Amino acid sequence: MKKYIAILGFGVVGSGCADVLDTNKKLIAERCGFEIEVKYILDLRDFPQSPYADKIVHDYNVILSDPEVELVAEMMGGSHPALEFSLAAMDAKKSVVTSNKEVVATHGLELLSCAKENAVSYMFEASVGGGIPVIHTIDTSLVQNDIKEISGILNGTTNYILTQMNTAGADFESALKEAQAKGYAEADPSADVDGIDACRKIAILASLAFGKLIPTECIHTEGVRTVARKDVEIAAAAGYAIKLIGRTFADNKNICAYVCPMLVKNNDPLSTVNDVFNGIKINGDAVGEVMLYGRGAGKLPTASAVVSDIINILSGSGVSYSWQKAEGSDIIDFDNVVSKQYIRTSSKSALLDGALDIGGAYITGEMSEAEAEELVKKLNASGADVLARIRILG
Ligand code: HSE
Repeated sequence: MKKYIAILGFGVVGSGCADVLDTNKKLIAERCGFEIEVKYILDLRDFPQSPYADKIVHDYNVILSDPEVELVAEMMGGSHPALEFSLAAMDAKKSVVTSNKEVVATHGLELLSCAKENAVSYMFEASVGGGIPVIHTIDTSLVQNDIKEISGILNGTTNYILTQMNTAGADFESALKEAQAKGYAEADPSADVDGIDACRKIAILASLAFGKLIPTECIHTEGVRTVARKDVEIAAAAGYAIKLIGRTFADNKNICAYVCPMLVKNNDPLSTVNDVFNGIKINGDAVGEVMLYGRGAGKLPTASAVVSDIINILSGSGVSYSWQKAEGSDIIDFDNVVSKQYIRTSSKSALLDGALDIGGAYITGEMSEAEAEELVKKLNASGADVLARIRILG
């Protein structure tokens, strides 16, 4: 028996998805009991040299009106027209899978309620962690746990850049160019380097863990542009790696999510996650700490995750989530988040007398964000200009 799908967007991930389905066609058919055939590929461009050239269509209605197509795999990226195309597919009673974190983090509630109304599935394993099966793990293997916290390295491009800065002495721009050449980066590099991509991913993980979608504008987000080589070196000498961390936790039903560069101690397994790899630590009340590790970006790893959703849905194991919108009162104010601080100043200051001198910078005790901001103001006013402040994980 054959089951038919359509691919929307024949870019890096879309072509990877066609390749995985083709390369592993026999294996998938043996395991699932049916063959999966890509009937159409929607793209604005033609691909005359591609082995899939005869499947390319430019009119979405061809796909929508074909009752043989059970599922649409959206890999277009961006919110529009991905949102409209996904809604139209579900209204036509076709399930949708996506690798598109922007559309899930921004329009997830609307997409999930459309899936419910039409009794189809909307799944997005590839939207977080590239090839790492993190969504399925939270949703199935850890479903019996009250999740306390998720912390992770969620963006392959910035992890590649930080690793190159740490181990190869690379500067920021050349490391970014390499990541782009390898196909890891988003079309707009600011989505990676300014933390926007990681913000969308932590929003999705928070929703899975706590059932509430935090609007991305309520997630404190910083990228890696301000991370200086000097801080990477001082941190390394003191036994830390600087990583872009996405973190979400719950406290008495209130939830918090944020993204920022953090110092990660060398004995924390996240510190060993390098290059394009992602690592995600999940803390559940019964299981304790679980860490998932794998390639967080790239053609075939991301396609692997897309195809797992396709297979789950076509096998009858598709899921539909019911998320609520996190309202203001559900969200913990970032000012109240507590952490130790790495602080580098232009000169010594008595205000840092209680802090640990790590040679070139200081590590303070725990303080809230509001207290840390106050300390920065006082240091600047005292003439010891703050050249870097980076939070410490754990
Ligand atoms: N640009 C993203 C990253 C791709 O570098 O992680 C995978 O989501």
